[in-house]
Amino acid sequence: MDRSTTTRQAAHRAAAPGRVLRERGAQVLWANWTGTSTVPSRALYPHQWSWDSAFIAIGLRHLSPLRAQLELETLLSAQWGDGRVPHIVFNDAVPLDAYFPSPDFWRSTTAGRAAGAPGAVQTSGIVQPPVHALAAWLVHRADPGLSRARSFLARLRPRLAAWHRYLLHARDAGGAGLAAVVHPWEQGMDNSPCWDGPLSRVEPADPAAFRRADLDHGAPEDRPTDLDYGRYVRLAAEYRDRRYADDAGAGAFTVEDPAFNALLIASEYALALIEEELAVGGRELTGVPDARRMRAEALTRTLVARLWDPDRGLFLCRDLRAPGPDGGLVAERGVAGLVPLVLPALPPGIAAALVRTACGPHFGLGGPARLVPSYDLTGPAFDPQRYWRGPAWFNTNWLMEKGLRLHGDHARADGLRDALLDAAVTSGFAEYVDPYTARGSGARGFGWTAALALDLLLDDGRSERGRLVGEEVWA
Ligand code: SER
Repeated sequence: MDRSTTTRQAAHRAAAPGRVLRERGAQVLWANWTGTSTVPSRALYPHQWSWDSAFIAIGLRHLSPLRAQLELETLLSAQWGDGRVPHIVFNDAVPLDAYFPSPDFWRSTTAGRAAGAPGAVQTSGIVQPPVHALAAWLVHRADPGLSRARSFLARLRPRLAAWHRYLLHARDAGGAGLAAVVHPWEQGMDNSPCWDGPLSRVEPADPAAFRRADLDHGAPEDRPTDLDYGRYVRLAAEYRDRRYADDAGAGAFTVEDPAFNALLIASEYALALIEEELAVGGRELTGVPDARRMRAEALTRTLVARLWDPDRGLFLCRDLRAPGPDGGLVAERGVAGLVPLVLPALPPGIAAALVRTACGPHFGLGGPARLVPSYDLTGPAFDPQRYWRGPAWFNTNWLMEKGLRLHGDHARADGLRDALLDAAVTSGFAEYVDPYTARGSGARGFGWTAALALDLLLDDGRSERGRLVGEEVWA
């Protein structure tokens, strides 16, 4: 066998897993596509979810830039008048009992009227992490010609700006400039042990007053407990009964979270790039992108001042309802505390400390853990199977890959990328996996797992990927 044959065979072997991932990942995204958006999972989550759609669009852009644009347009067309982007946009063709809490619980068109909920579509009234401007920028970059022809960014920009304005003003419950979440579902890591303290003050709703639909499709040991659900329902019902008004001090659960705010800051940088692109196209906005970048840097400083814990070497959540004039930091190590690694203006000492923490005993990256867990491997509440209490999730690992690359740690980023691609395929695109074994739990054929694995596979030019664009967002 000559040398060129051996080389060809080696190249073929290396390409084969990529081909399988590409084919199967695309199958997941096509199967979950509804015509205007993508469900996270046909059975467990049969509607459109806000941050899922943003992550899904980031992968979908490699297969169909048009569908990726539609995904974000559909979501943002359900934006409320006050600027909030709801965490669920309901599909009225899906039976009410397929998912709880259903539209008749949220009652957006009536209870949300004062806050400007749309009349033509039913939504939830809470939000999810603001990944949307980042997704819109990456979707634009996948096919700038199509994006310009469809005025994609020009149409989305005012909505994205209103969304950020809502978070930075109506949600500044702590008065320091960061956005607060008023429900664990808003931060997205529903049953993270970080919420055990803040949630312990919430009286659970009567279990007889509601029926969980998630257990029709998910194993109870993979999902939040009934006690968690009682508290989720109480918090959501009280917010609804306040007509979704963001009165400071009203909600029993009010938390400043490092991942939520880091994603908001990353999206501010992306919005600056979007505004720059539109200005280049001859529109107004002179000076706006620079002001936005300066604000992103100021927010990064605020994030450090409010949430950084130098002893633990990671960011913590601030529970604004804990005793004390400014609430208190929650002494739990969650993956949310590592996510600010995605920020370009992080002081270098803090970026290095975050990498050390990720690679240390609590998160095990490059050591015993194949993927970064959602919660401290040594923590008393660690459970490798139960939703956000330990399993590794693909969106947070994708963010860690971006963060490592951003700060120049390409070797670790490459290792994490390879582990993520492998776990996505072998788990059947599971919703989450055991961080040690990568055995899948939760839904299979999960939208963002397929999308983000495809993104890491197909985002060509590994040397360019993660490189800063004008010191800001990932290419
Ligand atoms: N993650 C929540 C659920 O499990 C809602 O956003 O339904």
